[in-house]
Amino acid sequence: MTSQPQIPSLSEPVPQLDLAAQYAAIGAEIRTAVDRVLTSQQFVLGREGAALEAEIANLCGVAHGVGVASGTDALILALRACGVRTGDEVLVPTFTFVATGSAVSALGAKPVFADIRPETYNLDPAELERRVTSRTRAIVVVHLYGLPTDMDPILAFAKARKLPVIEDNAQAIGASYKTRRTGSLGDAACISFYPTKNLGAYGDAGMVVTNSPELAERVRTLRNHGQAAKYLSSEPGWNSRLDELQAAILRVKLRHLSNWQRARQSHAAEYSRLLTQIPGVMPPIVPDGYEHVYHQYTIRIERRDGLQKFLSERKIGSTVYYPYPLHLQPLYASLGHKPGDFAHSERAAQEVLSLPMYPELLKEQIARVAEAVAEFLKC
Ligand SMILES: Cc1ncc(COP(=O)(O)O)c(C=O)c1O
Repeated sequence: MTSQPQIPSLSEPVPQLDLAAQYAAIGAEIRTAVDRVLTSQQFVLGREGAALEAEIANLCGVAHGVGVASGTDALILALRACGVRTGDEVLVPTFTFVATGSAVSALGAKPVFADIRPETYNLDPAELERRVTSRTRAIVVVHLYGLPTDMDPILAFAKARKLPVIEDNAQAIGASYKTRRTGSLGDAACISFYPTKNLGAYGDAGMVVTNSPELAERVRTLRNHGQAAKYLSSEPGWNSRLDELQAAILRVKLRHLSNWQRARQSHAAEYSRLLTQIPGVMPPIVPDGYEHVYHQYTIRIERRDGLQKFLSERKIGSTVYYPYPLHLQPLYASLGHKPGDFAHSERAAQEVLSLPMYPELLKEQIARVAEAVAEFLKC
């Protein structure tokens, strides 16, 4: 049962994300699922986790899902299962959340950064030829904000070089590229169920999905201390298991995901209808044949910091994802990059702003945000 939306007054804040609104709608279903796990007293590697793995694999259109403790662990374990080791290089877009790069670093490998296409914020396939070396061992693509990366040229490049492609699908569960779901396009894909994601747990959780039985089996072993059989470890692994409480909560939310996705898409259409009329604002661009799931609705504007302050004064939330591309993070200072190395990513980092976006957002709230953007641009 969903509760009736309240018409917000003009003075009420419009948060960038409102998880409480979602919980108000599905709290009873969640509590039933949590109670089921508590009654079973099985908390790790049980039937909820196994069922969720099958359901997420099905959603992504692949054969296998392996639940892990976070999206970051999913990346680390998928890279490791693909054979990435100390001294290897992995091609990674520089405009992403830090975990995409730090997962590579966690294995002692080196992230080799690549620039984005300015209109989609995703990896520019033309960059691969420029950055590849004889040490390149894998390619990671990120479907940023919920928009798929242009995979065809990337997959063709990877095939020619025999390189595995790993999708960082943390932000794009449910999205499609030319009729195929993200998560089914590369050799393996990594999902984050961090609470703010389109499908969010009530804590940390993640999953690796793949069509390869070998990769799935490797991740299954690595997530559980490298144990191929009970108490028999053949290699160093991790403890990175997805717990039953999170799995049960995610299974409830999964039932609502397609409705939530449609709501996000309809809000995005309304935002874009209003914002395209305002000179100086660039709404998200969705190439033909791509389905965007709007984890974020991210606009581009030259006076971004001014707009964010203006919105905040009017109690409208917004966030910059992400203010520093990875090549300019102190974490990667030793790689010797400097401003100007990846011009499109650096400019995006200065100009992007993610506006309020969640399924329960109301048309009146969208109108209020768009009016505030228009008012700012008149100043
Ligand atoms: C693009 C991207 N990659 C990786 C991650 C890491 O996921 P997690 O926070 O579940 O470890 C996130 C989310 O935080 C993300 O947005």
